[in-house]
Amino acid sequence: MLRDNVCYIVWTQLKFVTMLDRAGCMACKTMFETEIPWLNPVLAQHIVRRFLSSGSTPKTMIDMGMGPGYLVKELAAVTNARLIGVDCNPIMLELTQALLATHEIPNERVTLCLDDVHHLSFPDNFADLIVSFGCVHHWHDPVLGVRQCMRVLKPSGTLFFIDALPITDAIIQHLEEQIKDQEVLWILKKAALEGLSRGRVKDIFTSAGVHDVHVGYAQFDHEDFLMCMDILSEHQFIGKYEPSKQFFSSWEVVINK
Ligand SMILES: C[S@@+](CC[C@H](N)C(=O)[O-])C[C@H]1O[C@@H](n2cnc3c(N)ncnc32)[C@H](O)[C@@H]1O
Repeated sequence: MLRDNVCYIVWTQLKFVTMLDRAGCMACKTMFETEIPWLNPVLAQHIVRRFLSSGSTPKTMIDMGMGPGYLVKELAAVTNARLIGVDCNPIMLELTQALLATHEIPNERVTLCLDDVHHLSFPDNFADLIVSFGCVHHWHDPVLGVRQCMRVLKPSGTLFFIDALPITDAIIQHLEEQIKDQEVLWILKKAALEGLSRGRVKDIFTSAGVHDVHVGYAQFDHEDFLMCMDILSEHQFIGKYEPSKQFFSSWEVVINK
């Protein structure tokens, strides 16, 4: 059962969204548990260092397309932000709910919302920070998705998106050699095959009315790893991939509204 503060929003607007079935959602979860358990702890520290370290007032932050909820969980542990996890797939909300309960994350600071980025039900000028990882390539109308996120962002707010770049046959072959779980392999290959080029991402933002966008390559910094050495030493030997500066092969965009 989902907890009280899970919102069921605009259910009728979700009907055209293609969603992973339970096996696909579980594969996404497995990927974070067994393949890359270090990624979300480091990502959470990266976000804290770049976007949440200044100011004492708790910020309102949305994770757009939170999936099985690992980033929400990590952020809840290392920030005092008011966190809102959004996903259009009810199974992802269920998985996130269970994950938060297992780690005894307090209800007051985390809200989970079933919502579609194309029709967000949040008011204008609501969030200080909107982050989204590995999600934009799923959106059937990314221009509309970006417009909606910009609408929901406060005037002084920040948007931070990361997603896959299109990748080469050599990387696909590497994934096929490394990853034995066929469902996990499918998820990673799908993201890679649907990845957007940096030029395409720039066009999306421009069409959404956001100009002069710099589309960079996403990577961690030295400080991110230093900030969570304990977690890394715990996970380093579990994951099949060593912690790496690269978010696989991904673009990043930071917009200050
Ligand atoms: C590949 S998963 C990434 C999950 C997580 N952010 C991560 O880094 O692992 C993409 C997530 O985006 C969600 N998603 C796809 N389209 C969406 C939409 N239109 N609105 C909200 N969430 C969406 C999917 O349900 C899925 O959970």
